[in-house]
Amino acid sequence: MMNKTYLILLIFALILTLAGCNIMNPGEPQIPPSGVGSESLNDTGQALPIPALLEDINPEEGRAEYALRVQSGTTQIIGEQPTPTLGYNGSYLGPAIKLTKGEEVQMHVTNELGEATSVHWHGLEVEGTADGGPHQVIAAGETWNPSFKVNQPAATLWFHPHVIGTTAIQVYYGLAGLLLIEDENSKSLGLPDDYGINDIPLVLQDRSFNQDGSFLYVTNMMDGAFDDYILVNGAIAPYLEVSQVKMRFRVVNGANARNFYLELADRSTFYQIASDGGLLEAPVQTESLFISPGERAEIIVDFSKYSEGEVVELISDNALVMTFRIGGASKDNTVVPERLAEIERLDERLAIGTKTIELDGMGHMVTLNGRKFDMHRIDDNVTLGDIEIWEITTTGAMMMGSPGHPFHIHGTQFQILSRDGQEPASNEQGWKDTVFVRANETVRIIVRFNYEGVFMYHCHILEHEEAGMMGQLEVVNPFVK
Ligand code: C2O
Ligand code: CU
Ligand code: CU
Repeated sequence: MMNKTYLILLIFALILTLAGCNIMNPGEPQIPPSGVGSESLNDTGQALPIPALLEDINPEEGRAEYALRVQSGTTQIIGEQPTPTLGYNGSYLGPAIKLTKGEEVQMHVTNELGEATSVHWHGLEVEGTADGGPHQVIAAGETWNPSFKVNQPAATLWFHPHVIGTTAIQVYYGLAGLLLIEDENSKSLGLPDDYGINDIPLVLQDRSFNQDGSFLYVTNMMDGAFDDYILVNGAIAPYLEVSQVKMRFRVVNGANARNFYLELADRSTFYQIASDGGLLEAPVQTESLFISPGERAEIIVDFSKYSEGEVVELISDNALVMTFRIGGASKDNTVVPERLAEIERLDERLAIGTKTIELDGMGHMVTLNGRKFDMHRIDDNVTLGDIEIWEITTTGAMMMGSPGHPFHIHGTQFQILSRDGQEPASNEQGWKDTVFVRANETVRIIVRFNYEGVFMYHCHILEHEEAGMMGQLEVVNPFVK
């Protein structure tokens, strides 16, 4: 029965897709360049934009204060005409905010849009009221002033809207920024950490455009929005000039739905040093990096073996992501340390029980544990400090765009225990807040809830989240009534 419905939907969606039919956004689409998905890899001659570091407006030691303005504007991305976009303190994307572990942080977020938004700190361990999920809506014209103490290891986190009904489109139009946490350990390792010089964020997204330069946001029966152009920090296939040194890249999959399979075109290896929630115990040498929506990874690429004038391509599924243009020699004493961090293992024997999460369906027909999100329903109750095992399964046999679901929990970091009974790969053994669950796979994670309040958990394909593949849990302190 169910399968038959899917089949009909599938055929319907295929027809829509093939016909280029698009109800949301009439108009002529821009034809993607032959370079995307073909062998002719050439950057667009646009330099990689680097998000500005946001200035701390509180001079006091141990305290930090930041002001974000949510704005609309236009951005030159493609062709002759600028694209109407959204951004934080700018027209597209947002700044990077550097926080230090132990710091007391005060944020001021002013919504200058003509519609509601929220700012969710993805990966940050804070109380529910500071999380910025759908319960912390910032009405048009209002300012939200959450405060929190940074109490987690060095990591690359990010922030984006989380309002019911408009999360996916607001992110698509450009709302996403970076939250970079440092701690004593991360500063002591001698890793490249000169922001914008040898420590560079790469926010990966994909977008389609109409002929007039405006975004072509297609919400059809596919599993979210899959688009023609890959953007890095808001630029299509840009280049970055690099010296012959080791560079650290903080890769953020900020796409609504697309997975990236990053490789250097010459198949050179690089090191992954961090996952979502912080440094791995040891660097993992690899030729490729799979990263699904919401996930982050820090990598180190050694450009010392290339010579001046060479161009190194970063690709995903044979499409060009960006190029590195090798510049003159410059000294580099960076050594990738053999040990990066101590990670406290959450003990399975201390878990109070196992919860199951079933991710099901495709397109708009998605459910989580057989139902759709309801803002007025708490799906799980959790006692503060408890350790739980979550068993996440997906029956994605009929999915059309993605081979699985990136599953994310707010307000905490977890550890992956197993994938289909197998030990997770070494780059998945660190702290995570988002885990990709492939079709027909079972992923077991272990998680501890250290903060009170209401938190979301959901598929980070934003169109799935919006279609209801989300639940909410409430963490309660039993000693406070
Ligand atoms: Cu990155 Cu619920 O979000
Ligand atoms: Cu989140
Ligand atoms: Cu999904």
